[in-house]
Amino acid sequence: MSQPLPCPLKVEINEVAPRDGLQIEARFVPTEEKIRWIDALSATGLRRIEATSFTSPKAIPTLRDAADVMTAIQRREGVDMTVLVPNMKGTERALACQVDEINLVMSASKSHGLVNLHMTPEQSLEQFATILNVSKNSGVFINASLSTTFGCPFEGEVPEARVLELIAKLIALGIQGVTLCDTTGMANPAQVKRLCEVVLRRWPETPFTLHFHNTRGMGLANALAAWQAGIKRFDASLGGMGGCPFAPGATGNVCTEDLVHMFETMGVDTGVDLDALLAVASTLPDLIGHDVPGQVVKAGKSTRRYSMPAAHV
Ligand code: COA
Ligand code: ZN
Repeated sequence: MSQPLPCPLKVEINEVAPRDGLQIEARFVPTEEKIRWIDALSATGLRRIEATSFTSPKAIPTLRDAADVMTAIQRREGVDMTVLVPNMKGTERALACQVDEINLVMSASKSHGLVNLHMTPEQSLEQFATILNVSKNSGVFINASLSTTFGCPFEGEVPEARVLELIAKLIALGIQGVTLCDTTGMANPAQVKRLCEVVLRRWPETPFTLHFHNTRGMGLANALAAWQAGIKRFDASLGGMGGCPFAPGATGNVCTEDLVHMFETMGVDTGVDLDALLAVASTLPDLIGHDVPGQVVKAGKSTRRYSMPAAHV
């Protein structure tokens, strides 16, 4: 048995609510409001923001204003703006908007790939090869997100060997970073720890990000298991918004402010100003027109104190 990797003292949070959060909303958030919201998020110390997706407006109508959003948001030193992209057309649109990163998306399972992207994993890999060729002199970081890594709502278990085979293919193509996504909250902490340990040992030079949904209440437990295995980068969504509209039963991501609160109370540096983040989170119900699952915004931080009832003072 080799020694476990140390638990990181610093983590990076990628805020995905403007993409993963809005893609499943029924209401179109006006472009101006999206821009103000992303500008507020980029002032909180988040390392990276997934600002939108360059997908078909028929598939994801709530993000049909991707180019307008991407070109109008403030660009701050130290905050990378990334966008989700499924294909060549999305890549061209993203490159025209001076994104810092392109987050290519494919599925680990054939059925979710066909339903979500109309592509098998192999067809996605073919697209990615062309995309890497076209973008190689752009200076844009090319990440790939692997949906249904921990289980598929149609097929069930996705064998770990298949996941490793796809990661190996992505890295061989020249993909610079890989995000392992638990699209419908099927992962459990033991499974997460095992896979994270394997990938970190096998590809120590590749930045791995973990993307959890809290569909079955295991989001924070899974993030903790990944961190214990040595993972430093996490996707999370403000308020716990989010979900893939083409994955039955999908619900929100692990909540950013709850994740930041967990890490900060453990003494792990997220670089995020939690009070500033909570202030933005408190505006969400007005922005999207309904309540969100985030808990710390309602309960307050664990440092919150109440006055003793008068009878006991
Ligand atoms: N951006 C904008 N438009 C796009 C596009 C993109 N990235 N990719 C395709 N289109 C347009 C085409 O131009 C075409 O338009 P037309 O009907 O006006 O001619 C139409 O979409 C269909 O194109 P086609 O290449 O046949 O794609 P498709 O219908 O098989 O759809 C995807 C494939 C991947 C583009 C589409 O399924 C998609 O955008 N999915 C995104 C899913 C998603 O974001 N899920 C949540 C995240 S996990
Ligand atoms: Zn997601």
